[in-house]
Amino acid sequence: MRDLFDKIYKDKGPLGKWAEQAEGYFVFPKLEGPISNRMKFQGKEVITWSINDYLGLANHPEVRKVDAEAAAKYGSAYPMGARMMSGHTDLHEQLQNELAAFVHKEAAYLLNFGYQGMLSTIDALVSKDDVIVYDVDAHACIIDGVRLHLGQRFTYKHNDMESIEKNLQRATRIAEHTGGGILLISEGVFGMRGEQGRLKEIIALKKKYNFRFFVDDAHGFGTQGKTGAGTGEEQGVQDGIDVYFATFAKAMASTGAFIAADTEIINYLKYNLRSQMFAKSLQMVLVEGALKRLDMLRNMPELKTKLWKNVDALQGGLRARGFDIGTTQSCVTPVYLQGSIPEAMALVKDLRENHRVFCSIVVYPVVPKGLILLRMIPTATHTLEDIEETLVAFDAIRERLENGTYKRLSASVSAAMGE
Ligand SMILES: Cc1ncc(COP(=O)(O)O)c(C=O)c1O
Repeated sequence: MRDLFDKIYKDKGPLGKWAEQAEGYFVFPKLEGPISNRMKFQGKEVITWSINDYLGLANHPEVRKVDAEAAAKYGSAYPMGARMMSGHTDLHEQLQNELAAFVHKEAAYLLNFGYQGMLSTIDALVSKDDVIVYDVDAHACIIDGVRLHLGQRFTYKHNDMESIEKNLQRATRIAEHTGGGILLISEGVFGMRGEQGRLKEIIALKKKYNFRFFVDDAHGFGTQGKTGAGTGEEQGVQDGIDVYFATFAKAMASTGAFIAADTEIINYLKYNLRSQMFAKSLQMVLVEGALKRLDMLRNMPELKTKLWKNVDALQGGLRARGFDIGTTQSCVTPVYLQGSIPEAMALVKDLRENHRVFCSIVVYPVVPKGLILLRMIPTATHTLEDIEETLVAFDAIRERLENGTYKRLSASVSAAMGE
């Protein structure tokens, strides 16, 4: 037998092993100043491409005013207790009703955090006889929710209709045997690569297979569809989504989340969602703040128009310069480059220090070895000037990556890490 902590002393994990080189800079960086297109990193101004403030609401004066007034009125405690016990209010109900109407569902229920809420919703929707079928590239909260499931679960190849059908057939055979049902889970927009889930084609499969469809639309809510109601609206299939999920952490620039579905399903979840039954209710500051943000989503379509103008300019500019931005169909803008992790570190340092461009960097194990993913999130607060400066910077870093500059700069890091 060994001490439980032995493995922790020996192995810090695939990302943790980079802590010494990466912490404070590549991971856990501190962006300072008001949330906007330009913020401060280590005391210097950078163009910020790593914040999911799609519609620019985070620091919008009207939003800040409502947040401040709600904080002054209620403090941060109110209401105390879980929804079921003592944490229920008219405003929680009002927000749920307005959210449901916005996403064209009968009813909605608030979640304190998207991550926990997703886990809990999956947990409440299935029992051991049921089968879950889900996209292999699903967000961690879906993967972790599925881990709670005591029955069978299958991943399908990312957005691959043939694989989806194969797994639905497998799931059907099992469910026929156990007497259970099937829950299929996809994201509306995949947050790393930006592709939309194939919601329309999946929903068309309902004619052939008996399953219920759960969509995590964290990145689609507020950004996709004519009215911003999300990826279901964008693809004209919102009705075919049985349970719709979105977080307030992105287009709404806040904290909290919700699920929306038929009234009977929401009533069931209300009484069975452990993340809400055994946790304090969403604070009033967040509820009032969400009502204001939702009002702006409904009544200020110009925010979404500005967002998409920036998305088109950034993605169009990158494509025109020959960058590989994959198959994104959303605001999420990935740029794929080839290189080792030490090269990626040197490249990002150059981007931040010499070009004042701050974007997230994603490397193995999140993407395959040898691939560098620079992930950018355009927002309504960016300007065409920000985009032009960023495109010029990207040309420069690509040239240095290709001529081996970063390989030379990173040689000592590579040697230290045995890469
Ligand atoms: C696809 C997806 N689902 C769920 C979540 C979790 O939401 P929250 O930040 O509200 O916990 C996120 C991240 O915010 C996400 O990107």
